[in-house]
Formats: sequence, structure tokens, C-alpha cells
Amino acid sequence: MKKEKYQTALQTVKSLIEGESDLVSATSTIACELYHAFDSFIWVGFYRLVDETTLKVGPYQGTHGCLTINIDKGVCGKCLRENAIQMENDVSAIPHHIACSSETKSEIVLPVRDREKRVRAVLDVDSNKINCFDEIDKEYLTKICELISPHY
Ligand code: SME
Repeated sequence: MKKEKYQTALQTVKSLIEGESDLVSATSTIACELYHAFDSFIWVGFYRLVDETTLKVGPYQGTHGCLTINIDKGVCGKCLRENAIQMENDVSAIPHHIACSSETKSEIVLPVRDREKRVRAVLDVDSNKINCFDEIDKEYLTKICELISPHY
């Protein structure tokens, strides 16, 4: 069920952004498609590295997110620093989690890399369900992040 939904979302995103070179247009479309693909996703969006230490929000869908995150902070900062996927299935258990919404129970954050494999942003997906994320989310969200690299 989850796999099929991701396969559909991946195909939809691929066809929508095919031939689109603009980064904001592509990432807005990805945030929109993912947000609407799963009822339990309450926030889907990007934090972009704008200087050596600062992540800025956008594009995203959901309730408002923190505008700025220092890379020393949060699950997003950890993802950026470690250049590795962070899957947190109970955010109440992790002290470094930044709670933008009290509804968020679990989240997954993935690095978004450019053509030279440098991390340029992170994709953050928040769920209102505990234990929402697994290897299927990792697999398909990784594929979706890979679609962004050519846009840098
Ligand atoms: N939870 C994230 C912050 C971003 S919001 O959830 C939209 C974090 O800990 O980095």
C-alpha cells in the first residue's frame, strides 16, 4: 500500500518536473505531491543551506515551520552535518528535535545533494503518527531527492 502510493507519487513527480530546470518550481512540486500522497504527513518541505551554518525554510506544505535552523540544531541540522538520513520514529525521545508543531510524532530527514554530491538542503517529512517511517520511506524519498540534484 505504502509502496504503491510512493510509486505513484514518484511517477507523478517525475512527469511533472521533466524538462523543468527551475529549482524552486521542482521542489515546490515535490513538497506538494508528497504532502498530499499520505494522510499522516502533516509537514513536507525543504531547508536550504544558505551559508556555512544556516538552513532556511522552503518550499514547504503544512503548518508554518521554523524559518531558520542553525546546522548545530535539530534533526535537520544533524542530517546536514552528518550528510545522512535521520529517521526518528518517536520525536519525544530525542532531545535535539525542534518541535515546530506539537502534532509531530515522528519524522524523517534526508540530505539533498547537488551534481557534485555536496549537500545543499534537506527534505523534512513530519508525521502525526508514531513509528510512521521505515525502509520503504527511505528508499522512495531517496529516489525523490535524487531527482533534485540536476537542478543545482
Ligand atoms: N523538526 C525539525 C524542525 C523543522 S520542523 O519540524 C518543520 C528538526 O528538528 O530539525
